[in-house]
Amino acid sequence: MIIVIDGPAGAGKSTTAKEVARRAGFDYVDSGAMYRGFTYLYLKLGQDRTRLIDILDNHRLRFDFHITEARVFHGDTEITGDIRSDSVNSHVSEVAAMEEVRDTVRQLLRDVSRDRKVVLEGRDLGTVVFPDADLKFFLTADPEARARRRYDERIRKGEQVSLDQVRENVDTRDRIDSTRDIAPLKKADDALEIDSTFLTFEEQVARILQYIRSTPTLSQDKVN
Ligand code: CDP
Repeated sequence: MIIVIDGPAGAGKSTTAKEVARRAGFDYVDSGAMYRGFTYLYLKLGQDRTRLIDILDNHRLRFDFHITEARVFHGDTEITGDIRSDSVNSHVSEVAAMEEVRDTVRQLLRDVSRDRKVVLEGRDLGTVVFPDADLKFFLTADPEARARRRYDERIRKGEQVSLDQVRENVDTRDRIDSTRDIAPLKKADDALEIDSTFLTFEEQVARILQYIRSTPTLSQDKVN
């Protein structure tokens, strides 16, 4: 059973997807963590696109997705923290626009979701990766609210960052993600759009759980 939540950066997809997964008894899958993992490799390879493409069949990345946790490893090294670095933030949209990387991630996402109950979050899940998902959401919020949320989140983590820097990164990624040729960020025609600008986190989660309860293929499961 597949529930997807797509949307731009900072719309609250990951916190929402984790809480929905926890309350609905699903596992949480973060597709952005995969693109970030490949960006980590791209940086390690000196930003050499050809070398990155060459190692895609033997990338040694491992993604460990549980109820609310997404951990990433490269060989034996955990890189869960490294994939959120400024340098990965700055290059991830460039790497995510590479066709070969998207093919690899699409396959990884389908493999990790097979025969499982999962809530996945990303950009193209409802349009390209899982066009037949049981339920699709497109989560948005106005750009200023999204930049502010992402800034608050990073400050809470103790990071040194300015609101301008965060706004710039969010705007740039949105622009690249929405205008790329392959699998651009886009609402699927059959996705339910939720604008979270004026919703509390709890209201946002409640709205999604309500849709899950009223979806016949999903509602046989107990949703708290
Ligand atoms: O957390 P945030 O929304 O800021 O980003 P993320 O979900 O970690 O995704 C990081 C980047 O990966 C995005 O800006 C996209 O360039 C790319 N991405 C994508 O192209 N397709 C997806 N399904 C998920 C992420």
